[in-house]
Amino acid sequence: MSTELPPVIAIDGPSGSGKGTVASGAAEALGWHLLDSGALYRILAHVSQQAGVSADTPARLEALARGLRVDFVRTSTGAEQILLDGRDVTTVVRSEESGKRASELAVIPQVRQGLVGVQRSFRRTPGLVADGRDMGTVIFPDAGLKIFLTASVEERVQRRYNQLKQKGLNATLPALFRDLIARDERDRNRAVSPLKAAPDAVVLDTTGMPVAAVVDQVLDRARRRYGEAAAGRRQGG
Ligand code: DC
Repeated sequence: MSTELPPVIAIDGPSGSGKGTVASGAAEALGWHLLDSGALYRILAHVSQQAGVSADTPARLEALARGLRVDFVRTSTGAEQILLDGRDVTTVVRSEESGKRASELAVIPQVRQGLVGVQRSFRRTPGLVADGRDMGTVIFPDAGLKIFLTASVEERVQRRYNQLKQKGLNATLPALFRDLIARDERDRNRAVSPLKAAPDAVVLDTTGMPVAAVVDQVLDRARRRYGEAAAGRRQGG
């Protein structure tokens, strides 16, 4: 009772379900911290590749994971930045290459174990919005609000395509479609922490829904669940 942990909103879902954008929008509106857990897997993919540490040496991967010093910040122009040891790694982390390698590393139990503490360290006052695949099931099973976002495969591929194009990155729809199906398969069927909705999660199908409407639904539930603590910086959309 006396040592209550800061509140957490867990937002899980498959690639392209919009969880990153929704989590970021909700965190900003509430004035809470943000954890983009997928970025941690992507950063590990990048760092391990640079260091020449392969998937055959899980103990070395775990050590690298435990040592990650990552911050998610918003620049004065409102853009999201991912900092590793204070260095901006946003572009490389967001590439399809990092995402693919991240998905491969994510099946390794030692990698997941190494990232547990890093992820939980983001739980700070006034609260945390965490997005990923296992936020509500494994990392924050006590989260007071759990949301599981879904959307049709076609829409998820299109969203990914638009996102990458907007960032000036290379992408084709057929390649993205193939990659997304493969990643879904791997994320859902891995032995450790597979992607699935927690039994107490609210499942929201966002197909055809504008992001702002999904953020509003999350904020509405957050306010009902957390009251004053989720009063936020601004009311409404
Ligand atoms: O959400 P994303 O595309 O940035 O995630 C990259 C990969 O990391 C994804 O394919 C699966 C993995 N991941 C995970 O296993 N658990 C998480 N909590 C977040 C991401």
